[in-house]
Amino acid sequence: MITLMVNNKEYQLEIEPHETLVDVLQKRLGLMGVRMSCGQGECGACTILLDNKPALSCMMLACQAEGKEILTIEGLGTYDDLHPIQESFIEEHGFQCGFCTPGVIMTTKSLLETKPKSNASEIAMSLSGHICRCGAYPKIIKSVQNAAKKLEKNHG
Ligand code: FES
Ligand code: FES
Repeated sequence: MITLMVNNKEYQLEIEPHETLVDVLQKRLGLMGVRMSCGQGECGACTILLDNKPALSCMMLACQAEGKEILTIEGLGTYDDLHPIQESFIEEHGFQCGFCTPGVIMTTKSLLETKPKSNASEIAMSLSGHICRCGAYPKIIKSVQNAAKKLEKNHG
């Protein structure tokens, strides 16, 4: 039995010791916004926030996340009330297929909280662990810059 805190809710789960965090989030909690692509720590698609820091959920066991706050894209905004970062990605077309997008958005959230005035190269560096096969990188950077502006406005 483990207890996981996911998107501000506590879950008691009976799992196998070898289950990865991405598997538990997807298959047991139905959080399909957490993407599974390479499964080898190469692409960033499975990125979630663990105590506000980006983490690859395919590269860790679910039991390693006990006692930490897990945030997935589902905990960020709702369909009717998007988070400003989600709005920005739509406005600036920061995705094409969208498969990499949840992970990119989670890393963006962490970046803009720690370094809200990041320049384009700092944004690119921070997102360097994310592979977008469609090559939407320039639009992703614009989306992050747009999000930074929105968040600055919101915080007055
Ligand atoms: S699915 Fe985890 S890094 Fe690719
Ligand atoms: S939008 Fe990122 S892989 Fe297509």
